[in-house]
Amino acid sequence: MGMPEYQTGLQWTAETYNTGNLTIFGEETSRHASEAMNTCYIASTYSTCSMEEIAAAAPSGVRWFQLYIHQRRDLSEQLVRQMESLGFQALVLTADLPSTGKRRDDLRNTLQFLSSVTLKNFNGAIEDNDYSEYGLPRGSIDPSISWKDIAWLKSLTHLPLIIKGILTKEDAKLAVRYGVQGIIVSNHGGRQLDGVPATGEKGLQQVLKILKDEFRLSMALAGCRNVSEIDQRLVQYSKL
Ligand SMILES: Cc1cc2nc3c(=O)[nH]c(=O)nc-3n(C[C@H](O)[C@H](O)[C@H](O)COP(=O)(O)O)c2cc1C
Repeated sequence: MGMPEYQTGLQWTAETYNTGNLTIFGEETSRHASEAMNTCYIASTYSTCSMEEIAAAAPSGVRWFQLYIHQRRDLSEQLVRQMESLGFQALVLTADLPSTGKRRDDLRNTLQFLSSVTLKNFNGAIEDNDYSEYGLPRGSIDPSISWKDIAWLKSLTHLPLIIKGILTKEDAKLAVRYGVQGIIVSNHGGRQLDGVPATGEKGLQQVLKILKDEFRLSMALAGCRNVSEIDQRLVQYSKL
């Protein structure tokens, strides 16, 4: 399997800028392409196709679900339960968006969404006439989320939990301590805080070094000489 693709918000982009190249089936189409390329598709909370439509577009491929925690926790809980029942295989919590960054290009270009573009995963529950927060309904994302919410998320799903938006080794270590199964080192493509380290630099090298060291040591202590010797007997599913 290749690297995960961040196929998030594709349809919004397509519709908003009205390129004419992508249809209103943006996420379904890209989901389909991911399956064909044998790569992982991460569907966004704010997709404009519903998660059912995305799942149906390519039922057998690897798909994860990206979560923004909403101020109305019941809505987020519902999404988590729903994505698990639809066969998504991991939950990706985006942690670097307590508020939307100052997106000057969007302001300069007076970004606006067509009325036909809706957040299908919410079924109208958070529709608002004011989309001045870069296309998101006002006050949708809960800015108060913290490490203690990891336990809450883990109580909702048995699926592996991955945090997207980690940039420091300290946070990577905390993620391990809180029982998170994976991280995505990301600065949100520079769309959030101006001047944060590029994700390819030293921090990433350090994170990868920690990962490699841990992996090598665990393999050695488990008696595995290569990756193909790690089989299902070595996985403690109850701890996942
Ligand atoms: C139009 C657009 C929409 C995006 N929507 C989301 C989203 O819904 N959720 C999310 O976690 N990231 C979203 N992102 C960020 C990307 O997932 C990704 O982090 C970024 O494009 C690549 O930067 P990175 O390599 O630092 O991750 C979006 C990016 C773009 C350009």
